[in-house]
Amino acid sequence: MKIDLITIFPGILEGPFKESMIKRAVEQGLVEINLVDLRSYTRDRHRQVDDTPYGGGYGMILKPEPLFAAVEHLKAESGSTYSRVVLLTPQGRKFDQKAAREISDINHIILICGRYEGVDERVRMALVDDEISIGDYVLTGGELAAAVLVDAVVRLLPGFLAEEASAKESFSEALLEHPHYTRPPVFRGMEVPAVLLSGNHGAINGWRRQQSLKRTYERRPDLLEKADLLPEDKTYLDAIKKQQL
Ligand code: 6GU
Repeated sequence: MKIDLITIFPGILEGPFKESMIKRAVEQGLVEINLVDLRSYTRDRHRQVDDTPYGGGYGMILKPEPLFAAVEHLKAESGSTYSRVVLLTPQGRKFDQKAAREISDINHIILICGRYEGVDERVRMALVDDEISIGDYVLTGGELAAAVLVDAVVRLLPGFLAEEASAKESFSEALLEHPHYTRPPVFRGMEVPAVLLSGNHGAINGWRRQQSLKRTYERRPDLLEKADLLPEDKTYLDAIKKQQL
């Protein structure tokens, strides 16, 4: 997979992909991440990427010419038959695990980091295939949202997760994770639940499943509606609900 990120602030995106797991994915060749400075696609003397809005008002709007030039060049350079152009904007569809899975199937993605005030409407109309927001709050620009999207997408690429079990992640599974513990067995008087030290894997898996169900019920009951629940899960949830009455 190749991901091009078009931004007027490449410095914001220099850190996130140079650490830890995403760095390793890049080194392993699972993904190529390319930061593109929009200013390098300007042709005027002042290298102008934005301008004031027609009709008046606050803020600056990203101009169409550099964005069209950048996207057209990146598409041609990729040699890919299909490139998905995604604009990061608070007006986009809400990003979630399903959207991450869908995007992880595409070979070439061009992410345009919008700025809060906006981009020229002709960019949306004629250049952009998809518009994504990472949630209902306002960021100053799309860069941090793009970093979130890239992180979520890259970890889904085949070969990224060492253990197949890691793919059984909370949001695909629609349940929240059970509590985790590591050494020491007692810390400041707080004990690790005995079942986890029992060596009984049937009992451990049962306990983890119930803890997941309980947490999801307490914190995100909306997720339970979409979850694939086993008959024993329903029995357990009914028991929790009765206790709380
Ligand atoms: Cl993609 N951009 C901005 N500016 N703010 C956001 C966002 C994107 N997603 C949530 N808030």
